[in-house]
Amino acid sequence: MADETNRPEGSDRSLPARRDADAGVPARSADRFTAPRQTRAVGGLTSERAAKIVRQSGDARWVAFLGLVIVALFVIVYYFYELGVPIINTTPRMQAEADLQQVTSVERGYNLFEANCAKCHGANGEGGVGPVLNDQNKLFSHLTEGYIRNVLEVGGRYVCGNPKSVMPVWSNTNGGPLNYVQIEDLIAFIRADSTKEYVKRSATLNEPIIGPDGKVETFKGWRDLTFKPDPSASPVPDCWSGNPGGTPAPEATLPPGTEATKLVAQGFAFDLKEITVAADKPFAIELENQDSPGTPHNVEIRKTDGTSIDNPKPIDGGTTTTYVYEALPAGTYTFICQVHPIPAMTGTLTVK
Ligand code: HEC
Repeated sequence: MADETNRPEGSDRSLPARRDADAGVPARSADRFTAPRQTRAVGGLTSERAAKIVRQSGDARWVAFLGLVIVALFVIVYYFYELGVPIINTTPRMQAEADLQQVTSVERGYNLFEANCAKCHGANGEGGVGPVLNDQNKLFSHLTEGYIRNVLEVGGRYVCGNPKSVMPVWSNTNGGPLNYVQIEDLIAFIRADSTKEYVKRSATLNEPIIGPDGKVETFKGWRDLTFKPDPSASPVPDCWSGNPGGTPAPEATLPPGTEATKLVAQGFAFDLKEITVAADKPFAIELENQDSPGTPHNVEIRKTDGTSIDNPKPIDGGTTTTYVYEALPAGTYTFICQVHPIPAMTGTLTVK
């Protein structure tokens, strides 16, 4: 209020203060000028110049407007490009990218599986020393992403709580050989869609592998995404022991009159170190597993170069089975428990 009373009579508060230096310039409404004095002192605007300025600022506004429209259109078009156009069925770029990523992951997982897991779980997950993995019931409810991840991180102990499980730890967070990306790739492979064809790729070069027929080799996933378990089917047990499942390999037929060699497994040891059978005839070994339930054994026959001639299903402790093997040419072979490949469970098979 004190301020107000100090002002000269009749002064308007909204006007700028009078500038005495402007005295020589013809009076203009002072509030229009904000440019420095030198600019104004040039001598004022000609009407053409004024018109030009008006035109130019009009043009500039158009340019700004068009620029805005272009940006807005870009945003809209990009939005649909990323997320897909509704009604017409386009694949959104992000989805396409995710699909591609999935395929890459499955293809890498395939190589990892064949290199690390197939020797125990079978090349197609049909089972062997380890439980079957390609079973639809199991894939539906049991082999979830989280479960497989846990098994690979903790090792076979996670499955049945058996600290002696032969399934190793795979994750390098726990001392295993595989990193988390490889674990994810394995999970993607085990749970891959059975209707999709994936390309087999060289693990080192990532190039498609060309088969002998000149075509790119492919493989299919295991999981039928439309699979619904039979409502009356018993649920997959948490622990597979004693329920190995899977379809057993077709068995060789034993010629009548052939006796099976009896072999006892007890205390993680075979009672026989030597078995002799006739050449070029199917033969059989009757395995009696006298260890406690939860300790599976089997008898695999290996050639001298270490390759296996069979992949017999392990049997649980307390049970007996007869394995029938194909006829073998004369020679020396090794019989061994795949689950416990230790000296005490290894012997020599002589075929003559
Ligand atoms: C030395 C043999 C062996 C190798 C190699 C092996 N596994 Fe196993 N796996 C087993 C056995 C045995 C079990 C059952 C464990 C148990 O009951 O204690 C098992 C269990 C599993 C299970 C749980 C199955 C179920 O029904 O609950 C999964 C999943 C699995 N393995 C995945 C893999 C993957 C993936 C690899 C390769 C990175 C692999 N395994 C390599 C022997 C093996």
